[in-house]
Amino acid sequence: MKVLVTGGTGYIGSHTVVELIEAGHEVVILDNLVNSQPVVVDRISQITGTSPTLAVGDIGDPDLVDRVLTEYEPEVVIHFAGLKAVGESVAQPLRYYRNNVSGTITLLERLDAHEIRKLVFSSSATVYGDPQTLPITEDAPLSAVNPYGGTKLQIEQVLRDVAVSDDRWRFAALRYFNPAGAHVSGLMGEDPTDTPNNLLPYITQVAVGRREKVRVFGDDYDTPDGTGVRDYVHVVDLARGHLAAIETMSEHRGFDAWNLGTGVGTSVLELINTFSEVNGVEVPYEIVDRRSGDSASSYTDPAKAHRDLGWKATHDLAAMCRDSWRWQSQNPEGYGG
Ligand code: NAD
Ligand code: UFG
Repeated sequence: MKVLVTGGTGYIGSHTVVELIEAGHEVVILDNLVNSQPVVVDRISQITGTSPTLAVGDIGDPDLVDRVLTEYEPEVVIHFAGLKAVGESVAQPLRYYRNNVSGTITLLERLDAHEIRKLVFSSSATVYGDPQTLPITEDAPLSAVNPYGGTKLQIEQVLRDVAVSDDRWRFAALRYFNPAGAHVSGLMGEDPTDTPNNLLPYITQVAVGRREKVRVFGDDYDTPDGTGVRDYVHVVDLARGHLAAIETMSEHRGFDAWNLGTGVGTSVLELINTFSEVNGVEVPYEIVDRRSGDSASSYTDPAKAHRDLGWKATHDLAAMCRDSWRWQSQNPEGYGG
């Protein structure tokens, strides 16, 4: 298939492009490079032997999107492009709603005009808000606890409404739990521009000496060791989830959503200890106050994705830790190094 990947030079997008190319699909990336670097395309081509086309520009630019659709005629779109920093979204809500929601609406309008009506959307477990029941299934109540989460909820609603208006559309919303890990080659991984918000990139930057110690946000949660529990899922497993979604798209009409996670909950201290053990590196840490807005535990029941998409995560926590460390130790300064 010819696949348009918005946000394809980003963390999850780049790993998905590799899996798409390796499965024989043809890829064009549309990315404005607000949070990624063009060198990612060289890394993709080093890994796969094929260089995907990169169109640099914004999903919210209708003329540019038109030109890309006319020139490359994709059959399906995987839509990663979006801003994703929770704290920044609280400080700059308009920028987040404009970029993520308005951008997606422009993209959908142009796709409709070109009669391209299959789209996989990067949603997030954040749409479950502070989960009341564990494990989380797709029919759990939805709520937004910050503007970033609000953009994901609103986009899902737009997709639902569009699907109702015209039954030729097919939408798969993939709700990722906690993406982690890197490509096994050590050539691609997560490269946060600022101080990492997420735990594993923070750990790798401490391990490589860029930061002094990990701050563990609270050890008084109602969890086995008191630290927050999350469902970490290897980025290559996530990437393969997108392949499964496009390959089964003809079987699913309208809008549907699938959780992508392992179903296994891991605490902050377990992650730090596993990282230290499998990589043989010290990770100094200190316990500090809770981070506001965090929930105690979040993990999925991955049964629906297995049943409908034939998808299941295959990498364990040790693989995520090893692969993240290979990426960070081979690229101490990320792609800029
Ligand atoms: P990322 O920032 O690495 O990748 C997103 C890419 O989109 C970047 O390359 C950025 O330059 C591009 N982009 C942003 N706005 C754009 C626009 N208006 N036009 C064109 N390109 C634009 O992030 P990621 O971790 O790879 O996340 C990909 C998607 O998955 C995002 O939608 C994110 O919200 C979602 N998601 C991420 C996580 C996570 O923890 N990483 C969890 C759940 C969901
Ligand atoms: N944590 C620390 N120290 C850190 C960073 C995180 O102790 O420096 C803890 C958090 O308190 C939490 C766990 O590590 O218990 C994971 O935190 P992350 O920030 O890595 O991930 P979150 O679960 O908070 O957030 C992730 C995505 C969000 C998304 C959310 C829900 O980053 O975009 O999942 O899906 F909204």
